Amino acid sequence: MRTQVVIVGGGPSGLLLGQLLHRKGIETIILERKTREYVLGRIRAGILETGLVNMMREAGVAERMDKECFVHDGTCISYENEMFDINFQKLIGQNVVVYGQTEVTRDLYDARDAVGGQTIFEVEGVEIRDADTEAPYVTFTVDGSARRIDCDFVAGCDGFHGVSRKTIPDTVRKDYEKVFPFGWLGVLSETPPVHEELIYANSARGFALCSMRNENLSRYYVQCNVNDDIFEWTDEKFWDELKRRVPEAIAEKLVTGPSIEKSIAPLRSFVCEPMRWGRLFLCGDAAHIVPPTGAKGLNTAASDVHYLYEGLVHYYQDKDSHGIDTYSEKALARIWKAERFSWATTNMLHRFPDQSDFDLKMQRAEIESLHHNETAQKWFAQNYVGLPY
Ligand code: FAD
Ligand code: PHB
Repeated sequence: MRTQVVIVGGGPSGLLLGQLLHRKGIETIILERKTREYVLGRIRAGILETGLVNMMREAGVAERMDKECFVHDGTCISYENEMFDINFQKLIGQNVVVYGQTEVTRDLYDARDAVGGQTIFEVEGVEIRDADTEAPYVTFTVDGSARRIDCDFVAGCDGFHGVSRKTIPDTVRKDYEKVFPFGWLGVLSETPPVHEELIYANSARGFALCSMRNENLSRYYVQCNVNDDIFEWTDEKFWDELKRRVPEAIAEKLVTGPSIEKSIAPLRSFVCEPMRWGRLFLCGDAAHIVPPTGAKGLNTAASDVHYLYEGLVHYYQDKDSHGIDTYSEKALARIWKAERFSWATTNMLHRFPDQSDFDLKMQRAEIESLHHNETAQKWFAQNYVGLPY
């Protein structure tokens, strides 16, 4: 088989890249390790920056999003019983959108079906070969038979545990990592959201987040031990813990119900440099991870896709390789700022095992500065809505 761009990974970054390239007449084949149902069953991000919203429009897949999404002009932060709003619209004239990653992925798969784009599911043993030459190819097995696809480029969109990053030799690649000493326990429930905006809560019992997907679907998280047994976290225990971490007025309003999904996610900051090796380009979680506190994971994946898409279009349409040659540099410049925001927000809102009384006072002073200082709020707002591409 032959195609122009092999995309390894059928998550949001691979699908978005495939759809954008298709509209410019650039052919792709997507290789996905899991089934489509599995990919669509993963409950993950919920907040989209304007940059991603605009790319969904450019990819021609925004119709349902534009109808069903919720525009949020700000977000709330609480510490014990204090709660304040950071109004992005008032501060910087921008907003974010609530629309689940599951829905983004579904819309992208539907669009790919509609244009007859090729996606091969349940591939095994993907290997990216000769990426540092003019003639890369990808091998894998599917249904027990070995396959090979020759191509011009490989886009490594296969997430943190994929093969693409590991294809870059250790002598070329440098990984930067910080693992946080806790995780997030997330619950999805068919209950109305407790508040019209998200609430990021700092409390003596640890962090909590009240988020949502729609009027009758709520997404809540509490900071937990990453090794906790999920079965010990009964629904009752979860709701009880959440109520103890948010302001009393919010706890009183909280509507509880059975969880329809429950999972524990580790928190990690990670960046791999460079994001390109020859004709292999890394995109999204394959190259970097952020703790979810700043809602940046899916959105940084989208900004990578933007830079790579631009570079590939220039290459094919104008025979100009400047865009792909500067891809890694441009993507990383934006990524490190999102890493910093996510790390700083995580530090400000969580309880750490080794925090001294002094550390706690510093954390409190930081939240109070954000509460009362408009310049600090503007900085937060600019980062939360997403830095320009
Ligand atoms: P992935 O979604 O990981 O997709 C990679 C795909 O590649 C997968 O489908 C995988 O099966 C496939 N794959 C892996 N290995 C191979 C292989 N060898 N061969 C073929 N296919 C392979 N981000 C935000 O922006 N906002 C949020 O609010 C937010 N909340 C989050 C909450 C939680 C609990 C979690 C866990 C994450 C959250 N994120 C959030 C992060 C966001 O979900 C990820 O950044 C996003 O999924 C990255 O997309 P991706 O396509 O790069 O990678
Ligand atoms: C979510 O709704 O899943 C969500 C929202 C904001 C975050 C992280 C996760 O910062």
